[in-house]
Amino acid sequence: MQARNSTVNSYWMPFTANRDFKKNPRVIVAAEGHYYHTDDGRRLYDAFSGLWTCGLGHCHPKIVEAVQRQVAKLDYAIAFQVGHDKVFELAGQVTSMAPEGLNKVFFTNSGSESVDSALKIALAYHRARGEGHRTRFIGRERGYHGVNFGGMSVGGMFANRKAFGASLLPAVDHLRHTHDLEHNRFTRGQPEWGMHLAEDLERLAALHDASNIAAVIVEPVPGSSGILPPPIGYLERLREICDTHGILLIFDEVITAFGRLGAPFAAHRFGVTPDLITTAKGLTNGVIPMGAVLVKQEIYDALMKGPEQLIELFHGYTYSGHPVACAAGLAALSIYEDEGIFEQVEQLEGHFEDAIHSLADHPKVTDVRNLGLMGGVDLQSREGAPGMRGMEIHKRCFWDEDLVVRHSMDLLQFSPFLNSRPEDITMTFEKVRKLLDDID
Ligand SMILES: Cc1ncc(COP(=O)(O)O)c(C=O)c1O
Repeated sequence: MQARNSTVNSYWMPFTANRDFKKNPRVIVAAEGHYYHTDDGRRLYDAFSGLWTCGLGHCHPKIVEAVQRQVAKLDYAIAFQVGHDKVFELAGQVTSMAPEGLNKVFFTNSGSESVDSALKIALAYHRARGEGHRTRFIGRERGYHGVNFGGMSVGGMFANRKAFGASLLPAVDHLRHTHDLEHNRFTRGQPEWGMHLAEDLERLAALHDASNIAAVIVEPVPGSSGILPPPIGYLERLREICDTHGILLIFDEVITAFGRLGAPFAAHRFGVTPDLITTAKGLTNGVIPMGAVLVKQEIYDALMKGPEQLIELFHGYTYSGHPVACAAGLAALSIYEDEGIFEQVEQLEGHFEDAIHSLADHPKVTDVRNLGLMGGVDLQSREGAPGMRGMEIHKRCFWDEDLVVRHSMDLLQFSPFLNSRPEDITMTFEKVRKLLDDID
């Protein structure tokens, strides 16, 4: 163990309890389908499909093949002032899946970059229309929009913000979150109570004056902060208020796009079309990092001004539209369609809902929430030791049950494969229940 520990020591791990991890590292060396393989020769069932990323399963042969072919043919192409065949093709495919009207796409390398790009596009759009005073953003408590400065500022997870306080963007305010245990505990799917919480946007519009607000950004279903399905009618009402005041509505669909809710985008599922969508993860099935910002035609058009030979938006990344990522994206998008993945999710949703709610009567469980193939289980925290119970379940799953379950403090999160076998979903919750019985 000594030698193994010294090899893991140099790496500063993201969103990880580094010192605790390094005492007994959990190390994956390979993956296939719905399983990981560990360095001690075990095969683990992945109940989180990567990190909400790999809904189609790991090492899908069509994606592996597309990536291998692409990297041998065009490893990289200069991204500015020159394009390559695959990026145009992918842009066409992504926009053809998008809600009507969102027919332009800007590529990034992650969800965080997508969010910061979208915020910048919103500012540039208003300025180009002579409304440069619209500089304020509205996020939401318990929102997660990645870790860059813009996303962190509009985000509403205190742990992600507290170390960086004074350096957050100044012109940001937050809607109240929609999670209300008094009314909605153990709700299956969307809660009926809570649509009125959207009126909070009217309050903020009055407080800051709506004419100063550039955009509202929300996750249609907040994921990382606890899987919080929106109250029925809530997103529709946000859309109406944005329309009334000329505020752009951004859906952060880094998790919810590409099938997680049984549709290409959450916008389809809820029947609410935002002005911009940020996404990443499922775009390439997590195989190569890539993100995207989808925008409405009129936003793009507003910026296509001035002398034609000059750059219209001073923004972009060296790896925007990387050819190998594009190849992975094209392969992933074709699999979503060819293998009827969104329909599979629709069919699995009821089974998943029953399976996750089978934990609702457990004395250590305080709430269960689900929508599509996203689910969260809140555990009662141990007296004086918040987070320890969640951590213990995660570790015991990994070491004793050959199962990967994500936890965030005492919240267990589930993101099954979009093409899961129903019996594996059942098995996941049976194992978790057994562990809940076993631990303190
Ligand atoms: C809604 C949302 N936005 C942004 C991000 C950040 O994405 P990334 O980690 O790829 O930067 C995430 C990551 O989980 C997310 O869930």
